Amino acid sequence: MTEPRRALITGIAGQDGSYLAELLLSKGYEVHGIIRRSSSFTTGRIDHLYQEPHQEHSKLFVHFGDLADGQCLTNLVQEIQPDEIYNLAAQSHVRISFDMPLYTHDITGAGALRILEAARQLNKTKPVRVYQASSSEMFGDVLETPQTEATPFRPCSPYACAKVFAFHQTVNYREAYGLFACNGILFNHESPRRGEQFVTRKITRAAGRIREGLQEKLYLGNLEAKRDWGYAKEYVEAMWLMLQHDDPNDFVIATGETHSIREFLDIAFESVGLNWHDYVEIDPQYYRPTEVNLLLGDASKAKDILGWEPQMTFRSLAQLMAESDLQLAVNERLVRENSNTLT
Ligand code: NAP
Ligand code: GDD
Repeated sequence: MTEPRRALITGIAGQDGSYLAELLLSKGYEVHGIIRRSSSFTTGRIDHLYQEPHQEHSKLFVHFGDLADGQCLTNLVQEIQPDEIYNLAAQSHVRISFDMPLYTHDITGAGALRILEAARQLNKTKPVRVYQASSSEMFGDVLETPQTEATPFRPCSPYACAKVFAFHQTVNYREAYGLFACNGILFNHESPRRGEQFVTRKITRAAGRIREGLQEKLYLGNLEAKRDWGYAKEYVEAMWLMLQHDDPNDFVIATGETHSIREFLDIAFESVGLNWHDYVEIDPQYYRPTEVNLLLGDASKAKDILGWEPQMTFRSLAQLMAESDLQLAVNERLVRENSNTLT
C-alpha cells in the first residue's frame, strides 16, 4: 500500500485553513495543522474534521506552534516530513496592521520566511512544495486595472508591505535554491466561515442579528471601497492546483468582477427582508489611514495553466452568507429565550 501524501497547513483553524483541510482530507491526504496556544479554544472551524490521533483512521493531526518561533517550525517540518506546506497563517487584518505594524511584519512577513527556511532545510533530504498565501492587497493603490501577475505592487498598509516581503522571499527561494514554491495572489474571498471582523461577515452577522431583534445598529467605515469577492471554498482548490502543476509559478486568483460595500449591503439585508439604510451608521474608527479603493483581478493565467475558474456569483455568495448568519441568529435568540424561561 502506498503512503498517503502528507500536507502541513499553518493557519489551519482560519477560514481558508479549514476549507483546505477538508479538501485535502477528501483527497486522501494525511493533514497536519499548526495552531497557536490560546487561553480559549480556537478550533471551531475544524472540530468537525478532527479525530483523536490514536483513532485508527485519523488523518488529521493538530500541533501547537507559532510563526514567531522559527525553531519550532523547523522542528515540526522535520518531524512531519510533509510533501506540501501551505503557509496560510498571518495577522490577516489590514486595519489592525496599522495598530500592530511590527507584530504584523514579524508574523505575516518574517513568519513566511521562517517557513521557507524550514522547507529549504527539508528540501535537502526530501523534495517539498510550498504555497505562500499572497494577497491582492499587495496591489494597494493600484497602478493598473485589472490587476494581473505583471501588475507592479504599490502596498498601502503594514499588512500589504509584509505580504510583499513574503512574496519576494518566496520567489527568491524558488530561484536561489530551486525550492518548489508558489505565490497565490488571492483576491478577497469570503464564506460563512469568514472572520467576523472582515466587512462581509460583519454585515451578514449584523443583518441576521438585527432581523432577530438581537442588535439595533451596524457601524461601518468606508462604504465606497470596491473589492473582487470570491468564494473561499473554491479558492482553496486553486491553492492545491498550484502545488500539483509541473512547475512552480505565481497566480492571481479572482472572479474578474468588482463590487462596492454598498452593493454587498443591498444583497445581505435584502436577503433577510430589511433595508440597510435604516440600520447602518458610519463610524470613522473603521476608516484606514490609507485605503485600497479598488481591487479587480484577472485570473486568466490560472484558467489557462491550472484550469481553475470561479463558479459562485457575487449575489449567491452574499445570499449564502446572509442565510447562514440568519440561522445563527435564530439559534442565538432561541438560546436566549430558553435561558430566560429557566431563570
Ligand atoms: P484567517 O481566517 O485570519 O486565518 C489566519 C490563521 O492564522 C488563523 O487560524 C490564526 O490563528 C493563524 N495565525 C495568526 N497568527 C499566527 C501565528 N503567529 N502563528 C500561527 N498561526 C497564526 O485568514 P484567512 O482568511 O483564512 O486567510 C488565510 C491566509 O490568506 C492569510 O495569510 C491571509 O493573509 C491570506 N489572504 C486572505 C485573503 C482573504 O480574502 N481571505 C485574501 C488574500 C490572502 P488564530 O485562530 O489563533 O487567530
Ligand atoms: N473590516 C472592515 N470593517 N472593513 C470595512 C468596514 C468595517 O467596519 N467598513 C468599511 N470597510 C471597508 C474597508 O475599509 C475595506 O475597504 C473593505 O471594507 C474590505 O475590508 P476587509 O473586509 O477588512 O478586507 P480587506 O480588503 O481589507 O482585506 C482582506 O482581503 C485581503 C485581500 O485583498 C483580508 O482578508 C486580507 O487578509 C486579504 O489579504
